[in-house]
Amino acid sequence: MASENPLTIVTCTAPVNIAVIKYWGKRDEELVLPLNSSLSVTLHQDQLKTTTTAAISKDFKEDRIWLNGTEVDVGQPRLQSCLGEIRRLARKHRSTDDGDTPPLSLSYKVHIASENNFPTAAGLASSAAGYACLAYTLARVYGVEGELSEVARRGSGSACRSLYGGFVEWHMGERADGKDSIAQQVAPESHWPELRILILVVSTEKKLTGSTAGMQTSVETSTLLQFRATSVVPARMAEMIQCIRERDFPGFGQLTMKDSNQFHATCLDTFPPISYLNDTSRHIMDLVHRFNAHHGQTKVAYTFDAGPNAVVFTLDDTVAEFVAAVSHCFPPESNGDKFLKGLPVRPVPLSDELKTTLALDPTPGGVRYIIATKAGPGPQILDDPHLHLLGSHGLPKSAA
Ligand code: DP6
Repeated sequence: MASENPLTIVTCTAPVNIAVIKYWGKRDEELVLPLNSSLSVTLHQDQLKTTTTAAISKDFKEDRIWLNGTEVDVGQPRLQSCLGEIRRLARKHRSTDDGDTPPLSLSYKVHIASENNFPTAAGLASSAAGYACLAYTLARVYGVEGELSEVARRGSGSACRSLYGGFVEWHMGERADGKDSIAQQVAPESHWPELRILILVVSTEKKLTGSTAGMQTSVETSTLLQFRATSVVPARMAEMIQCIRERDFPGFGQLTMKDSNQFHATCLDTFPPISYLNDTSRHIMDLVHRFNAHHGQTKVAYTFDAGPNAVVFTLDDTVAEFVAAVSHCFPPESNGDKFLKGLPVRPVPLSDELKTTLALDPTPGGVRYIIATKAGPGPQILDDPHLHLLGSHGLPKSAA
């Protein structure tokens, strides 16, 4: 019955997500339970994804992990927390099973290799895709079925939203054990096919405060954060879900910008204050507002996470003109990077009228490049064995 090959191996991919109602602050650090619910859009994996291979074997001596080809410490607490949780679920699954489980030992060690299809240097938060992919892949290799929010969340809170495609809500939950703090799809990616997402990668040299440490200080010191969590977010969640259901872009866009701004206001209200935005970020905000004023309606909307990169939402009929406006305000510098990556955008000239409305001093090189994408599906299993990142001995193919 048992296979000749002692290796059980699975490879999966998972997407990046961008929050339009932000998660900032935990009520339980250990279980990673948030102070408020949040909502995100899952980005398409053709442009941004993590791929993870996990293999288990009785021949492996220890758990090992390689990230983008380099072996890293498997002992780091978040990784251990994910591994511990998946093994606990696998044990539970087995004890409630009728004894018909595959001949696989839970004491087997695991080898994991994970890669992103986008450069870490782009400063895009990759932990959500990374931990969602880890949870999804480990679940397949250990034969765990069902809801994986709890496993992904242990790695990074926002990771649970990357377990689904389209538009995803992370319910804060009420229970102290966190069993009801789970992600759920609000609408699939096919619901709003005209929606486009542009990531404006901004030049920066500054070392930023990580989200985990940043939100901890906010919880301890910001009164605005407490107000936001209890008195602002619940109504915003309901409003945002309605805007998405009705594909109401102006409503969706305005709320997205307001929520991003309130998140950054809580960062400023943190003591000592945290600032993630830089001059280019603020310049992009100004550009978006002027662009919308020119059109007399909200046609584009920005949001910023714990860094200066802007994520801009718009509809397919507006992408080309907005990209032309960005190139006008931030003339591309020939730094070897292509200015526009991802989905193709046809070049259009900018009207003199719009140029006058923008009236911003051009900042060459302020935006390094743009990645054009759209909403996409959740994690996928790759069936082709050629795509495994680990070879038949359980070591990275790239290092072999
Ligand atoms: C600003 O999920 O990275 O991107 O749970 O501590 O790992 P930890 O934090 P993380 O925080 C994300 C914060 C955010 C907003 C969001 O994605 O909702």
